[in-house]
Amino acid sequence: MNGSKRKKVIAGNWKMNKTAAEAATLIESLIPAVKDAECEVVILVPFLDISTAIKMCEGTNIRVGAQNCHFAESGAFTGEISVPMLIESGVEFVIVGHSERRQYFGETDDSVNKKAKSVIENGLYAIVCVGESLEERETGDTEKVVGRQVKAALFDVSSEHIGKIIIAYEPVWAIGTGKTATPEQAQEVCKFIRKTVKNLYSDEIAEKMVIQYGGSMNPGNAEELLALEDVDGGLIGGASLKADDFKAIVDAANV
Ligand code: PGA
Repeated sequence: MNGSKRKKVIAGNWKMNKTAAEAATLIESLIPAVKDAECEVVILVPFLDISTAIKMCEGTNIRVGAQNCHFAESGAFTGEISVPMLIESGVEFVIVGHSERRQYFGETDDSVNKKAKSVIENGLYAIVCVGESLEERETGDTEKVVGRQVKAALFDVSSEHIGKIIIAYEPVWAIGTGKTATPEQAQEVCKFIRKTVKNLYSDEIAEKMVIQYGGSMNPGNAEELLALEDVDGGLIGGASLKADDFKAIVDAANV
């Protein structure tokens, strides 16, 4: 077991990849590959892969999540999926506010907050994504932007439900680009996020909160990133689609 006080969470964000049949093939390889993990292992799969994933992962250490939800419990929202629907499907986690959703699907700090509240108040874990763009980093606005996103996402979240929040720090410029944040950059922002949570809640809540890094994490850089004091896991995109790469990252979390 690593010396950290928080159990690490390695979560694979499959994005819009893998049909249900392809998902089954990947999960078949993943199950034996990560069975001895000391960290939590989560796969965040497309909605239509959930039922396959839940069936196959039953009785294993792989936990399943979704990549998005609507904040309303039901209603006239064509094409959307609600949290009660996700609960019935068996998932335990939902990604909220991924930068691709903020960028391409009009998600705002306000909708991220509403979604996060719906997820956690219904008893699931919300993996809330925050992160600055390249321009914001270059103009020295990283903490301003990330601080605003964290505060907005946690607005009106009670201390009773805060334990269900995981924050993923994903600098937008590092996602899918092969350009990873340096360990110093990742540690600095994850530490800043913990301080922001401490100021909003308490030392105890901040110390318990799982804060992941995401953005081109791969077998080559995972060990260094996961060893950082305030990095409690990873949200992995591209490298989660290959069983060997994902296993290597899970192994790096066990060091
Ligand atoms: P990446 O994606 O690992 O492919 O950069 C991470 C993410 O978007 O969650």
